[in-house]
Amino acid sequence: MDPEFWHERWAANQIGFHQRVINDHLQRHWHGLGLPAGSRILVPLCGKSLDMLWLREQGHAVVGIEISTLAVAAFFTENALTPVIREEAGYSCWSYDRIELYCGDFFSLHADVLGVLDGCYDRAALIAMPEAQRPRYAQHLASLLPAASRGLLVTLEYQQVEMSGPPFAVLRQEVSRLFSAQFDIEHLEQFDALAANPAFRERGLTGLTEHVWSLRHR
Ligand SMILES: C[S@@+](CC[C@H](N)C(=O)[O-])C[C@H]1O[C@@H](n2cnc3c(N)ncnc32)[C@H](O)[C@@H]1O
Repeated sequence: MDPEFWHERWAANQIGFHQRVINDHLQRHWHGLGLPAGSRILVPLCGKSLDMLWLREQGHAVVGIEISTLAVAAFFTENALTPVIREEAGYSCWSYDRIELYCGDFFSLHADVLGVLDGCYDRAALIAMPEAQRPRYAQHLASLLPAASRGLLVTLEYQQVEMSGPPFAVLRQEVSRLFSAQFDIEHLEQFDALAANPAFRERGLTGLTEHVWSLRHR
């Protein structure tokens, strides 16, 4: 999707992807990655996700990247946080107590801007990308993360013909194709998610499975 698509979604408040509660998979599986408190965690395409607050509560520093200024501003306003805003490498970086959100395009971001990272959390980032963009996304994510860093990835499987994305279906084989050259991948869990997502059933889905993956950068 091009940036304009997302800017329009945020402007119209069409953000059905935003969760008002902390993601269950994150809470269940994060500690299994073994990342100690103090680790710096990248959250690509972060939106205004509350999961970033949870990661900070676990003692981590959070580095988010989001193209929509509306989303970044909403994150701080809605959580009653007053950020300091600085300009850095063409991004505006909004920060408050171990949360730094870079506002701009994920694909233009270089590892040296972000500093040392220890892990990443991808919920609704890979699956927000159409198929043709996903190899570039995986490649760029790998370029931002150092060897031995760990990550949690959540994907969706459904019949792509039943609904146009986003979110897009990313099947097991594709996760392997996208990441296995640079990451060790472990499938942690799969979960029937149709009942919890009536809006997708209304859009035509007859089945929907969430998959949770652990990644380790080689
Ligand atoms: C489906 S939403 C998921 C947001 C968040 N991960 C969550 O779980 O709520 C995808 C987000 O990616 C942002 N986005 C899309 N393309 C981007 C890009 N190239 N660089 C940075 N952010 C982008 C959109 O504005 C949107 O907020």
